[in-house]
Amino acid sequence: MTPKKFTNPRAKHNFQGRPCSVAGVGSYVPSRVLTNADLEKMVETSDDWILTRTGIRERRIAAEGEFTSDMAAMASQRAMAMAGVTAEQIDLIIVATITPDMPFPNTACLVQRKLGAKRAAAFDVEAACSGFIYALEIGQQFITSRTYNTVLVIGAEKLSTIVDWTDRNTCVLFGDGAGAAILQNRENSHGLLTAVMGADGNNADLLFMPGGGSQCPATADSVAARQHYLRMTGKETFKNAVQAMYGAAKEALKQCDLDISQIKCIIPHQANQRIIDAVGDRLGAKPEQLFVNLDRYGNTSAASVAIALDEAVTSGRIQRGDLVLIVAFGAGLTWGAAVIEW
Ligand code: UT7
Repeated sequence: MTPKKFTNPRAKHNFQGRPCSVAGVGSYVPSRVLTNADLEKMVETSDDWILTRTGIRERRIAAEGEFTSDMAAMASQRAMAMAGVTAEQIDLIIVATITPDMPFPNTACLVQRKLGAKRAAAFDVEAACSGFIYALEIGQQFITSRTYNTVLVIGAEKLSTIVDWTDRNTCVLFGDGAGAAILQNRENSHGLLTAVMGADGNNADLLFMPGGGSQCPATADSVAARQHYLRMTGKETFKNAVQAMYGAAKEALKQCDLDISQIKCIIPHQANQRIIDAVGDRLGAKPEQLFVNLDRYGNTSAASVAIALDEAVTSGRIQRGDLVLIVAFGAGLTWGAAVIEW
């Protein structure tokens, strides 16, 4: 598909910064597979229910001694190899996660140590399933402003540690994994054309984990009351996801003066096939424009679009010069969309 002439929105706003390219991507998923048949033995559910209501067939579960930072470091090494970047070149590491190895220090510091990226500043971003898009937009600001030359952005989750494996409403949905991207200024590439971010704290109660923070620190009572597991009001979250992802995608396209038909590949947050289909329908996208790997990994929150972006690139679905739309939605509520000229 030859893209029509489009406007770089950053230029439209008299943007003086330099373009930010995605120079490399990488992902990692743990080897252990948990199938719908396995879940049938754990809670009252069925392969048929999970598949028809969500599109998920199986998900990956990290090993006991394998943490969010381990998966993040594996994905990062793959992104660094694609970009031809060494650990010493990295100026900044941003990890998007809701399942840090521990409350502090941040997971980005633990990744810095694992990679040997001694020069890098490091911090985490918590925007749930929208985290990778939030982190991309933040990382980009440091490239375009010429503050840093090389930024490593990661979405990584070990959701299996905060899933209540006795709650069939949620435990069938989630999985573990990580995806990463190297941001740099590269010749002949517009890179990240725009990113849209949004939030609605009024709906914070739709998807949350009550325990472990200052409101409800860990105690024997909080553990007994199962406060350290995620909770979701599924139907309401679903409705908000469709609305917010459609709105964010539309806004990102508008900012670039792009029509959906010009987008080679749409990478939506992988939460539910019915959400992906509804967002695609509303946008007027053809099914073949939508990238889906939900069937194999379930919802990996901040890692979701990062893993999908890597798989779309490495499988050849995205070629240099293609226009890519990524769009996500998550707890907060938060949402985001970005247009990348690959
Ligand atoms: O990543 C952040 C964003 N997350 C999302 O966007 C997730 C959004 N929500 C969803 O994807 C869907 O709402 C779910 C997949 C979570 C649920 O699908 P639903 O079509 O909204 O089902 P429901 O919650 O209305 O439940 C329908 C029925 C209920 O039974 P009754 O009350 O009708 O008798 C549930 O108890 O399905 C039952 N049910 C299950 N049955 C078998 C719920 N979970 C299961 C299950 N197996 N795992």
